[in-house]
Amino acid sequence: MTNEAAVDALLKQLTLEEKIKMVHANSSFAAGGIARLNIPELMTSDGPHGVRPEQGRDWKAVPDPNNAGTYMPTNNTLAATWNPELGYAYGAVLGQEANFRGKDIILGPGINIIRAPLNGRNFEYLSEDPYLVGQMAAGYIRGVQAQGVSACVKHYAANNQEWQRNKIDVNMSERALREIYLPGFQAAVQQGGAHALMGSYNKFRGQFATENAYLMNDILKGEWGFKGLVMSDWGSNHNTMDALRNGTDLEMGTDLVLKRNSVDQSATASTGAAAPAATKNIYDRFYLADAALEAIKQDPKLEPLLDDKVRRILRVMYATNMLDGKKRQPGAHNTSAHQATALKVAEEGIVLLKNNGLLPLKKTVKTVAVIGANATRENAGGGGSAQLQAKYEITPLQGIKNELGDKATVTYAEGYKVARGQKADPALIAEAVAAAKAADAVVYVGGYIHGYDYANWGQNAYDAEGIDKPDLKMPFGQDELVQAVLAANPNTVVVLLGGGPIEVAPWVGQANALVEAWYPGMEGGNALAHILFGDVNPSGKLPFTFPVKLEDAPAHKLGEYPSAPGDPLKQTYKDDIWVGYRYYDTYNVAPQFAFGHGLSYTTFKYSNLTVTPGPKSATVKLTVTNTGKTAGAEVVQVYVHDEQASVKRPEKELKGFKKVFLQPGQAQTVTVPLNAEAFQFYNEAKKQWVLEPGKFDVLVGSSSRDIRLKGSATL
Ligand code: NOJ
Repeated sequence: MTNEAAVDALLKQLTLEEKIKMVHANSSFAAGGIARLNIPELMTSDGPHGVRPEQGRDWKAVPDPNNAGTYMPTNNTLAATWNPELGYAYGAVLGQEANFRGKDIILGPGINIIRAPLNGRNFEYLSEDPYLVGQMAAGYIRGVQAQGVSACVKHYAANNQEWQRNKIDVNMSERALREIYLPGFQAAVQQGGAHALMGSYNKFRGQFATENAYLMNDILKGEWGFKGLVMSDWGSNHNTMDALRNGTDLEMGTDLVLKRNSVDQSATASTGAAAPAATKNIYDRFYLADAALEAIKQDPKLEPLLDDKVRRILRVMYATNMLDGKKRQPGAHNTSAHQATALKVAEEGIVLLKNNGLLPLKKTVKTVAVIGANATRENAGGGGSAQLQAKYEITPLQGIKNELGDKATVTYAEGYKVARGQKADPALIAEAVAAAKAADAVVYVGGYIHGYDYANWGQNAYDAEGIDKPDLKMPFGQDELVQAVLAANPNTVVVLLGGGPIEVAPWVGQANALVEAWYPGMEGGNALAHILFGDVNPSGKLPFTFPVKLEDAPAHKLGEYPSAPGDPLKQTYKDDIWVGYRYYDTYNVAPQFAFGHGLSYTTFKYSNLTVTPGPKSATVKLTVTNTGKTAGAEVVQVYVHDEQASVKRPEKELKGFKKVFLQPGQAQTVTVPLNAEAFQFYNEAKKQWVLEPGKFDVLVGSSSRDIRLKGSATL
């Protein structure tokens, strides 16, 4: 972002009152707007997997034919592609639809580390691994911003659960912060060039994250040199002086402010209720509104703090051509190209977890029984602020019907009812078993759903903002159902939907094929059918570990999730850097499915590994060959292990990867450069990253637990 002279010139023309107007919201999703100087309002929209329907200026959903847009697969799916180019394509769709809808900032991507499997918002996030997060986020951000729209990376930082998200005070070691929780944000800023970041609701080391001196001033704007704008999450500011001093450049929100000021408790984001007329000037009561104006009037020495905020906002406006008289790019909406990108991301992101030769299903099947309520359920509208109105949504049942046309009979049995506390229903199970017995092949589609409706779901919601999952079990009595179906017909493929792992241990041994389909977006049903019937060879890989059971997860085993014993509003991440596979592999805990795992219909051979050391770096080279009969893609994963270190280091850490597409018999040389960062750890005593000389193992494989080649480099 350049144009500093123009920014300064414009800043000089603004009165104190006008500057204040620029740094807080004026309605649910808009801020600023100084007509006198042709400074437009800044229009934001969620995010992160499509452009949200109009919420109006007062959270009153506005009917608009353009509300129905492209519903991309959720960020889990994107991460599971391990394809940064698709990250770019995904971002480009969002940027173009944002332009079409007149939005300047997309509130995404969500990149918090997937630490606790129960976190209700994991479906919006990418991975348990900071390197994978950074690579995928950078692609997404560049894709959005290439359209002249800003991405707003969220939620900075340590917002790894929804439980008590507005109050929880997160503590962690400096090493965990640096090695696990920050690298994704740093990559988003430095590699992705993100124009904007959103501060999170939680506290960090005793101070609210959005106005946290250490996170905002020292690290983000200091060490990383971030020149863009930090906006609050909606209602995440709590103090005028902290917001002025510690990095909040733009205060957004409605509902929490209303609650806080006891003006009207009924107008909340979750109900979508309209704010009554009495609350008209609620925005003047924001921390960065009248209160900030008063503070600066009393102490003019504070004005440079305000100037810095306005500068950052203007910079972002210049970077997206909002101020230079250039017209906004027209954008595009619901194009077939956007739908094709949604399809592609789903096809590359769906993960084949287990296959005893059942998949791909033969297209000569005469009868396919589709079983499970998730086969007909639409998901776009769920989850909270990530909700969308999809132009259309191909469900799994529809996708299978599209695939088979009139060549086969597709039957459907609901199998289970989606309702709070719902137990197995013997009549529905009997119906499902009969359907399974009568079919050549069965596709069971179950797993989680988005539950966001508090009235119905209470503390039992899945994959929803503001609430964590109650457990990792198959809800609605599905364990019983799926076992009955598997017993009725061994040609049963189990397909799971949801924003993360689910306990499959009770029946996975019985299943001949298991597929993880996440929330695969508007083309999800087609993508799934393409994979089930072999039109597309699966190439997705898990971006996080599936534990055998919840209690195995390090946030539970070592950590204090969801809060410290005896203090519901505090939590120390005692799992430290032992997040995801770093824990499972180092502590020898067998996962159900490992990080990076994902099967293909073909086979790949890894050979000719060389690791050539350079100065504080190494170059990894190897050959990958498609040794099967089907074209396919493999994600070559490069992990590093430090043989000897002055601190305990993980058994392996992902430091590079490459997705390669190969025809049968084709071989390709893959080169993965490893820079100094690949070998360093964060030394708390020295307060810096260090590379301790010595021997490093370089492990190359198809998953974190399927290492095919080993080399080493002595640095
Ligand atoms: C709160 C959510 O945490 C954030 O992700 C979202 O962008 C805002 N609300 C606006 O809807």
